[in-house]
Amino acid sequence: MEKKCDSILDAIENTPLVRLNKFSEDFGFDIFAKCEFFSPTGSIKDRTAKYMIKKAEKEGKIKKGDTLIENSSGNMALSLAFVSIHLGYKLKVVVRDTISNEKLKMLYPLGADVIFADTSLPPESEDSYNNLAKKLAKKNGYYYLDQHNNRDNNEAHYNSTAPEIWEQTNGDFDYFIAGMGTGGTVGGVGKFLKEKRAKAKVIAVDIEGSIFYDYFKNKKLIKPKHYFLEGLGDEFLIGCADFSVIDGMVQVSDKESFSFNKTLLREEGVLAGGSSGAVIAAIYKMKNEIKKGSKVVTIFPDSAFRYLSTILDENWLKAKGF
Ligand SMILES: Cc1ncc(COP(=O)(O)O)c(C=O)c1O
Repeated sequence: MEKKCDSILDAIENTPLVRLNKFSEDFGFDIFAKCEFFSPTGSIKDRTAKYMIKKAEKEGKIKKGDTLIENSSGNMALSLAFVSIHLGYKLKVVVRDTISNEKLKMLYPLGADVIFADTSLPPESEDSYNNLAKKLAKKNGYYYLDQHNNRDNNEAHYNSTAPEIWEQTNGDFDYFIAGMGTGGTVGGVGKFLKEKRAKAKVIAVDIEGSIFYDYFKNKKLIKPKHYFLEGLGDEFLIGCADFSVIDGMVQVSDKESFSFNKTLLREEGVLAGGSSGAVIAAIYKMKNEIKKGSKVVTIFPDSAFRYLSTILDENWLKAKGF
């Protein structure tokens, strides 16, 4: 299919759904990954950023020239910086001080004003990663997009990611398995699948240390622990985490995610990031419960190039105890 675009902004969406041949043979069922690293900034968050800004614009909440602010593990920050260039906004982003260098180095040339949140602060601190953007927005009159609580995030996936998957598979698949960060992807696609009365089970993947898994399983809020994987999990219950459309949840560790990320690169030859390793680790854990011959659809949110100085660096892995 030819993809001809009037602007690079239109190159967002319509990403390929790719069969993972090696894993499919090893596991005994078909695994298809929607490769979001083909998007202009290299991640799924391009969809979210474009949708959220355009919707806020349409509703009269923002206009060209305004300042937007957001907290992001890095990918949303890059996507917002990219979309802001095209739609004429100024951008401030709050990032965790553990953000990978690759993401950080790309944020500056895209014109974003970067503010670091100290990850050692308790979540309830007004200067913590989760609270600082809101505080600065209130104080300075910036528009806070709030991808963690603003359901426009889920809507972006309901309106673009989900129908694309539906079309690419003719609705014929048994599982949709995706990582849960803000919850936008799994929530938006999950809602679409439930409304379609699709046969597919919706499975979310959480990272050890995050609170989602225990909340989903036992309605218990555990004390969060530190983890290194970027993109998945949270230390709070957030508004975009829509548990009502999720049939099951699998928890994986940093170690499992990084190890499967390496296998993904080396054996499958797919250059996807750490959270893609996490979903493959989750599918591996479900191997015995997924019937032979089933069809599994998953999402690879970003690219391995984002992690050259972290999970793809042996020294970094050693230094962090992996
Ligand atoms: C690398 C990566 N993977 C997965 C996710 C999770 O996607 P969502 O926020 O839609 O739950 C994110 C979100 O930031 C991400 O950056």
